[in-house]
Amino acid sequence: MIYNSFDNPGLVKVLTFLQTHNTEYLSGQDLSDVLRISRVAVWKHIKKIQELGYTVESKQKLGYKLISNSELLLPWEITSNLKTKKIGQQAYYFDSIDSTQNQALKMAEDPANEGAVIIAARQTGGRGRSGRKWVSPKGGIWISIILQPEFDISITTLFPIASALALSLAIEKTFLIKPELKWPNDLTIKGKKLAGMLVDVSLESNKIENLVLGVGINFDVNVKQIEKSLKGTPNFYGVASLSEQNQKVKPIQLVQTFLLELEKIYKSLSAKQTKKIISEWTQRSSTIGKNVELNTVDGKIKGKAVKVDEDGALIVSDNNKTHKIIAGDIVH
Ligand code: BTN
Repeated sequence: MIYNSFDNPGLVKVLTFLQTHNTEYLSGQDLSDVLRISRVAVWKHIKKIQELGYTVESKQKLGYKLISNSELLLPWEITSNLKTKKIGQQAYYFDSIDSTQNQALKMAEDPANEGAVIIAARQTGGRGRSGRKWVSPKGGIWISIILQPEFDISITTLFPIASALALSLAIEKTFLIKPELKWPNDLTIKGKKLAGMLVDVSLESNKIENLVLGVGINFDVNVKQIEKSLKGTPNFYGVASLSEQNQKVKPIQLVQTFLLELEKIYKSLSAKQTKKIISEWTQRSSTIGKNVELNTVDGKIKGKAVKVDEDGALIVSDNNKTHKIIAGDIVH
């Protein structure tokens, strides 16, 4: 099933009315009169709303009352009261898809889809960095965001780091915990992976045509199951789930907060305020200042992680020399 934020006006009308009048019972006739739709349409929408995971109580002679919202990241929930200007103002939700990233890449060709977010409850072919698979069962937040950046091509390499910072700020605001940032763009808790970022950029004559940011967040996943299916994967270092921290935060709160933080950081990048982003990232980093060992295309590199430079590259120094690492994985 696919849903988007503009295709189901009747359903959204009924739902919004139930949400804004959730202290009372509303009769089918009243809903029909107020919303100017037939009683049959009201009934069909209520049925669908229930199927989507909302609890709607139905009492004879009294009518309908909304008891609780759905836990699904449905498009109208994403756009409702979203404080951003552009990012997330269009949303698409899939029950199941191969990869939101692949879907977003197809949609990115249409300029009208700028800012759109593609969300899936589960992915059957989720993609991670360096061609790795990304295990994406129900319970996680699997999301891709279509952007048409104004910023210079040189900033692209900093973008994943900046996005990881945005997610870390959003998690801090909602969960009141501070995940560590692990170079290049992982979020961890006690050294285990909580979230990762994947960026696909399409360039045209030295200009960014579009950019798709893919974000995978282990929100409420079965850690043991994911760890089992990733055992033996190169550079795998364990999985953490946000639900282990706090059960009360709803996925929608985190997504909306993240989209706002991302838009702020995106604006800072466009205004070339890269120093501030690097310094905030460094403060939250579990990498800088540590002795690290990395797998890179040029082989293993060991040394002290000194800093992240203006391109997002990691500067590592050993006794003899300084390495600038553009891509790689920290193994220790
Ligand atoms: C990483 O390897 O750390 C990056 C993981 C990115 C996973 C996300 S989930 C949503 C989007 N769709 C994908 O297929 N991958 C990204």
